[in-house]
Amino acid sequence: EMSREEREFQGRIDRGVKIEARDWMPEAYRKTLVRQISQHAHSEIVGQLPEGNWITRAPSLKRKAILLAKVQDEAGHGLYLYSAAETLGTSRDQMIDDLHSGKAKYSSIFNYPALTWADMGAIGWLVDGSAIINQVPLCRCSYGPYARAMVRVCKEESFHQRQGYDIMIALAKGTPEQKAMAQDALNRWWWPSLMMFGPSDSESVNSAQSAQWGIKLFSNDELRQKMVDQSVPQAEFLGLTIPDPELKWNAERGHYDFGPIDWEEFYNVVKGHGPCNRDRLKTRIKAHEDGAWFREALIAHSEKKAQQAAG
Ligand code: 3HC
Repeated sequence: EMSREEREFQGRIDRGVKIEARDWMPEAYRKTLVRQISQHAHSEIVGQLPEGNWITRAPSLKRKAILLAKVQDEAGHGLYLYSAAETLGTSRDQMIDDLHSGKAKYSSIFNYPALTWADMGAIGWLVDGSAIINQVPLCRCSYGPYARAMVRVCKEESFHQRQGYDIMIALAKGTPEQKAMAQDALNRWWWPSLMMFGPSDSESVNSAQSAQWGIKLFSNDELRQKMVDQSVPQAEFLGLTIPDPELKWNAERGHYDFGPIDWEEFYNVVKGHGPCNRDRLKTRIKAHEDGAWFREALIAHSEKKAQQAAG
């Protein structure tokens, strides 16, 4: 049975009125948003690592500059999202601790290794492609600070996807070895990119409540289907084969039917047993420890300034 506040709150959600940081909200709404937004931020920050590995090995100055800009954008996305989460009363230190202790999740996709330059293409095309499909609806989610952060993030994501697809075109239209590299990257990134949308709707523990609260505007499976439908013609244009023998246009549904997802692999990676989970967390923890002196100096400096100002 809903209390009067909860009824009024749900009424605002149903009327599409944005919830702002100082508005009354059910504790569970606050909690699920801190969970999702902080994990989204962690994904952006950990997501810098696979591509960061290739900045020094980019094949040209142009590709290096583009990749540098993309990785830098992801850092900015992470900071926007940590700030959006802080409006709900959590702290940066708490969120970072939860990531480093393994308590908080980040997107499974970043636990796969980027083995060749073609992976930079497949990541931009498929990982950022999935991220855009997942993030565009979030621009209209019920929590104001999250929706507004997403508007800015989505503008930059479209550049991320385009530069990735541009790399795939260059390789697919290149030498047979280059085309083979592009096909190998598609083979390795296709299924993990579909897993980014989360478990199937029937297995999704948060979806129903998130949908009622206007946080999740489309279901995991709806967005996954949108990604498949969008990517098939793009792979055809590249002359590459999507690694799914069951992929087939279903005229009745007006969508592509596709093969089963390996949920055992998904949960394995989410639980921390993916190819790079340990590496990614170790790298993040080391970066945080190496930066401790700088954070302390900033705080000491600002305290000294404050004392001087106080006179
Ligand atoms: N990797 C890791 N964990 C995942 C996951 C994935 N791909 N998909 C789902 N999960 C987790 C969920 O977090 C949840 O666990 P929790 O309750 O401990 O948080 C559990 O699996 C069940 O999943 P649900 O579908 O019930 O959970 P949600 O309703 O939260 O839906 C989501 C999952 C679709 C990822 C949703 O949280 C979401 O839209 N998050 C915001 C967007 C986001 O994080 N995108 C992925 C990051 S990629 C990115 O942004 C980088 C890009 O710039 C390249």
